Amino acid sequence: MARVLVAVTGGVAAIKAPHLLRLLRAQGHEVRVLATPRALEFITPLSLAVAAGGEVATEEAWFRPDGRALHIELARWAEVVLVAPATADAMAKAALGLADDLLSATLLAGAKRVAWAPAMNEAMWLAPKTQEHARTLEAMGHALFGPAYGPLAAVGEGEGWGRMLEPEELLERLQALLTPKDLKGLKLLVSAGPTREYLDPVRFLSNPSSGRMGYAVAEAARDRGAEVVLVSGPTTLPAPWGVEVVRVESALEMREAILGRYSWAQAVVMAAAVADYRPAEVSREKEPKVAAEKVLRLLPNPDILKELGENKGPRVLVGFAMETGEGLARAKEKLLRKNLDLIVLNWVNREGVGFGSLENEVVLLLRDGRVLELPRMKKRQVADRILDLVKEFWKG
Ligand code: PMT
Repeated sequence: MARVLVAVTGGVAAIKAPHLLRLLRAQGHEVRVLATPRALEFITPLSLAVAAGGEVATEEAWFRPDGRALHIELARWAEVVLVAPATADAMAKAALGLADDLLSATLLAGAKRVAWAPAMNEAMWLAPKTQEHARTLEAMGHALFGPAYGPLAAVGEGEGWGRMLEPEELLERLQALLTPKDLKGLKLLVSAGPTREYLDPVRFLSNPSSGRMGYAVAEAARDRGAEVVLVSGPTTLPAPWGVEVVRVESALEMREAILGRYSWAQAVVMAAAVADYRPAEVSREKEPKVAAEKVLRLLPNPDILKELGENKGPRVLVGFAMETGEGLARAKEKLLRKNLDLIVLNWVNREGVGFGSLENEVVLLLRDGRVLELPRMKKRQVADRILDLVKEFWKG
């Protein structure tokens, strides 16, 4: 957790600042808030102070009667300054090194880490000067969170680039910024979600995988600095930012997508619930309903992970095992048969974990014989534990 100074500048998105402050505090961050005079035309100091749980640093409070200078104090206090919303003007000042107001002076006074959440009209965002300033800030080591494409605030402007990321997304970006990059250099291929094996254009065989486990691995690896390609079966989850997402439906499509990137990958985590069978006959037309019993003939799908194991080379290979009864023995058998470094055993029949849930309860079986039983935890935490082991194998 970090000491975060949220600097609010003058834009309509300033009304989202209290929500952002509350989310940051709920995550355990220590927060302070700074508001420019323009920001206070959109949002009251009181609502910012209540959300931040403390007073608002304003232009009037810049120089204290006791002689202390607020910009120096804030720059020393903050581990991160998050400017949200950030106007083109505030970015330009920081890029040029101006320091004639509390925010620009705080930034120039040596703020350790700075992140910008631009919010402006598309024409202003795409203006060559703003783009030049954005690149200058990046070159200075500042981070840019967004902007996003979407409805713009001013009346009659429609949609465009320049919308501030939502507070939840800003929180995610901040979390990533603060995460040590211990997987930098790793090229990681992750699979997630179910596959769909179509019988006809409207019917398919599938399973309840939501994709959450695999997406958690992809996001955690991204935050830790890895380059990530996520091969995803059909899910309702939004594509994670900063990750290349390849969408597939069937096991055969998943196989093709994974094998096509295998030579690139240094590690693979197969969290997808790949269907073991597909219908032998696929109809192009919707099959009419018939009163009589219908028998489906199924063909085995290729075992993608086994194929990867047969051509493993120096890669780190991680599989999952979804089991009911004799889980440990079956998972161990899969670990050896598929030539893996690690297999993550989880359970089909336990309430609140496995398919679809936010949490998981797993046993990690390693190639070297170690067996690590983890308590129930968020999938994101499970993902980090898996990645700790991937790192161990990857670094040799
Ligand atoms: O997506 P969620 O809702 O978050 O749920 C997560 C999960 C329960 C789907 C996930 O944690 C999980 O267990 N995924 C693997 C499920 C599975 O297919 O297990 P399996 O024991 O049938 O397969 C063993 C391994 O071989 C898996 O890594 C699987 O991806 C792989 N496999 C399986 C069949 C096949 N034809 N090709 C494969 O590569």
